Amino acid sequence: MCGIVGYIGPRQAQDVLLDGLSKLEYRGYDSAGIAVYDHGDIQVAKAVGRLVGLADELTQHPLQGSQGIGHTRWATHGRPSEDNAHPHSGCASDFVVVHNGIIENYMQLREDLEARGHHFSSETDTEVVAHLLEEYWTGELVSTVTNVLKEIRGAYALAIMAKQDPGKLVAVRKHSPLVIGLGNGENFCASDIPALLQYTRTVYILAEGEMAVITKDAVECLDLEGNPIQKQPFEVTWDAVAAEKGGYEHYMLKEIHEQPKAVRDTLSGRISEDGRHVLLPELHMTPDELRNIDRIHIVACGTSYHAGLVGKVAIERLARVPVDVEIASEYRYRDPIVSDRTLIMVISQSGETADTLAALRNAMARGNQVLAITNVLGSSVAREADDVIVTWAGPEISVASTKAYTTQLIALYLFAGYLAQARSTANDDVVAELVRELSSLPDKLENVLEAAPLIQSIAESFSTWDDAFFLGRGLDYSVALEGALKYKEISYIHAEAYPAGELKHGTLALIVDGVPVVALLTQDELFDKMVSNVKEVKARDAYVLGITWVGNEEITKSVDRVLYVPRTIAFLAPLMLVIPLQLLAYYASVARGNDVDKPRNLAKSVTVE
Ligand code: F6R
Repeated sequence: MCGIVGYIGPRQAQDVLLDGLSKLEYRGYDSAGIAVYDHGDIQVAKAVGRLVGLADELTQHPLQGSQGIGHTRWATHGRPSEDNAHPHSGCASDFVVVHNGIIENYMQLREDLEARGHHFSSETDTEVVAHLLEEYWTGELVSTVTNVLKEIRGAYALAIMAKQDPGKLVAVRKHSPLVIGLGNGENFCASDIPALLQYTRTVYILAEGEMAVITKDAVECLDLEGNPIQKQPFEVTWDAVAAEKGGYEHYMLKEIHEQPKAVRDTLSGRISEDGRHVLLPELHMTPDELRNIDRIHIVACGTSYHAGLVGKVAIERLARVPVDVEIASEYRYRDPIVSDRTLIMVISQSGETADTLAALRNAMARGNQVLAITNVLGSSVAREADDVIVTWAGPEISVASTKAYTTQLIALYLFAGYLAQARSTANDDVVAELVRELSSLPDKLENVLEAAPLIQSIAESFSTWDDAFFLGRGLDYSVALEGALKYKEISYIHAEAYPAGELKHGTLALIVDGVPVVALLTQDELFDKMVSNVKEVKARDAYVLGITWVGNEEITKSVDRVLYVPRTIAFLAPLMLVIPLQLLAYYASVARGNDVDKPRNLAKSVTVE
């Protein structure tokens, strides 16, 4: 998983490439590099570590030229090092290549190339591409690239430049994202749209197996055989500032605060004028097909998986269809029992997560209908699924997912209501109540955000501990899982989520004097049971933060601190609870001095297994 960018036009390429890479650092940040063409020569600069290292290097030794490619890396093949950083060249510096993805047959290719006298200087899979370009050179870049592509297997987005064919970049997409930015007398390519927004809003989103030949005045799209194809440009409507930090200290905090708007945007156009019904006009599934579904498998990873756990409850309760929620990396390798009436739902913020995409493709190959929930229009998941519900959260830059989760929940609740309408499994008033409560959420979420200073002070005291426990029952447990994941991934504090009734079967042994416990108490029918579990940990002197509905005075007798959230139907409680948990993780991370937006060892979009 890496970010790539390319530029050709009148500006200094170095500046455009660095700027673009800074918007792609979320895709990887263990090393970076650029290559710039100028007057018959290609110069390369690389640095290990964050992009700032490369920027310093380029301030001291600038690369002149108005055509170039750049890369920010997250190591897969070969440790982070200058040799392994992209761009890569072959034996000479006639070709430079940046790559996102994995060349699966690189070992065999490398052995063959070495036997023919090629000398390799990195441990990467990518370098074989540069050597193959040398082997297959036809005197012209495009035909050379099409010949090389016949040799390589795997997933890749590539940007390539040749010394002998100046004024041209070739960009190729196969199973890794790539967009082409169309400017005036200048053109671009990048792994993701935010890298282009400062320069253009008109883009081509390359589809699987497409290639773009980019000069400063034109972009020609071809298939991998080199045959021309027609593509429609896409106008990006995000405001450029939406991809920036907008005054917040970190993207994560900005994205947490964007949730009321993201929820509003995701609901927009999906509620009937009388405010009683769900509309999902984008779905192609007919009412008969919806009625025919006899089981749903929800497949996702990480935070998106946690959203799926909530979705299961919503769909089962409203639409009375059994739902299994599966982790994509497990699901793709087992032999799930499905029938032609099983609907597969994949959830992915990025729409590029390798395991989720593989599960989607397996399902399509089996002939199952696939419905995707994704935040990235134009992502692989969005383009390949039969049906898509887009979450209008806008670009999520921080590695830790926040607004994507809340909008995934909205999409799941909407789908549950929609399915219930089609199957007549819920009374009209029940769906109307759901829709009314969903509509009232943005204001309630604003209200929850006002508790940020209180949560900050609690997080600061929690951050001195090396453990934390998140307890809940029913839906509260599903949110506890998300709270614990957020907490551990950015604060680096060990955090565990437990269904509170399970504590006494083992975990209670870990409860010691003062250890932070977050108890979620919104499921009314389970409230008394939860209070008993809180008493169990209090009896072991844990320090308990209870999060519950506003007005619940009784809880103050059982916990050390209380955080109140506005009331909604218990069924929608995850939306109210998750914001305090995100803020708790955020402020604990800040208190520990961590790099909140780029937690160690993690990258935003996991496009490799
Ligand atoms: C955690 C987080 C990850 C992602 C997971 C799936 O904060 O962001 O757990 O949820 O990598 O990513 P998507 O949703 O892009 O498939």
